[in-house]
Amino acid sequence: ENEGEQESRPPVVTVMGHVDHGKTKLLDAIRHTNIVDGEAGGITQHIGAYQVHVEHAGTDRAVTFIDTPGHEAFTAMRARGANVTDIVVLVVAANDGVMPQTIEALNHAKAAGAPVVVAVNKTDLPEANPDKVRQQLTEYGLVAEEYGGETMFVNVAAKPRIGIDNLLEAIILTNDAALDLKAPVKGNAQGVAIEAHLDRGRGPVASVLVQKGTLRVGDSIVAGGAHGRVRAMLDESGNRIKEATPSRPVQVQGLTAVPSAGDVFLAADDDRTVRQIAEQRQARRRAAQQAARAGRTTLENFM
Ligand code: GTP
Ligand code: NA
Ligand code: MG
Repeated sequence: ENEGEQESRPPVVTVMGHVDHGKTKLLDAIRHTNIVDGEAGGITQHIGAYQVHVEHAGTDRAVTFIDTPGHEAFTAMRARGANVTDIVVLVVAANDGVMPQTIEALNHAKAAGAPVVVAVNKTDLPEANPDKVRQQLTEYGLVAEEYGGETMFVNVAAKPRIGIDNLLEAIILTNDAALDLKAPVKGNAQGVAIEAHLDRGRGPVASVLVQKGTLRVGDSIVAGGAHGRVRAMLDESGNRIKEATPSRPVQVQGLTAVPSAGDVFLAADDDRTVRQIAEQRQARRRAAQQAARAGRTTLENFM
């Protein structure tokens, strides 16, 4: 249905790691923002997506970052995060070392077949031991380049913003060496809902990642069992934009209901088509729920 010519697209980089190892702080350093201080209890509750521009060898390179929560209650969200991921940045605090969610995140990366760049964080702390992190991860098959392996480890300190350029360079090098990412830019958009919530003033708001085609204001879309027409699109800074191409994360307003993280979204030519798809999906879900209640095993179908 999407037959446009393939064009290269920016990498989608998911930042994963143990709780409080500095994932959001690292993204703050990359984006020159301060999200961490605004988080309740300093804990990330939602998956957030941001696109940044990196200067590399005299060219402008876009990179999309997805921030994930480290708390173990968010395992399912992290697992879905890995499905849209091209590269995983595994954040390990050098004062704490490898922890249970570090390994869980690494397993998601392996399952997704995504190359891993390790950000060894908090190297500003006196008790930091970045070499120990390298040794620990060797046991899990991530061998640092300087130890004769193939994984790039970069020492950073997100809080004082040290080593950030080296990390971005490692991401671009990994992309260029290991990946050849392409997607059609023409045609109806397709992608994944990253996060969604009900806003008191704006109604259902969904952060979506466009994976194929171009999403435009006015498009009829379906996301999970929700449908509607794109009334407005905002970028990660809250600026209104008119269209979004592959690997671009955007906030969409105009859905009639709140989709779930991980729901596939698609744009179609008219309202009737998206309403029919949404109704089919709702019916499938109701049937799955009934089957689950009846005691049968079901697999929720996210695709
Ligand atoms: P969750 O999303 O809750 O899993 O945490 P996170 O991995 O996003 O960690 P976050 O960015 O919230 O940072 C946790 C704490 O570590 C905060 O108090 C940060 O200020 C601090 N921190 C992060 N990076 C550094 C660093 O490089 N050095 C020092 N000293 N502190 C840091
Ligand atoms: Na935190
Ligand atoms: Mg966080």
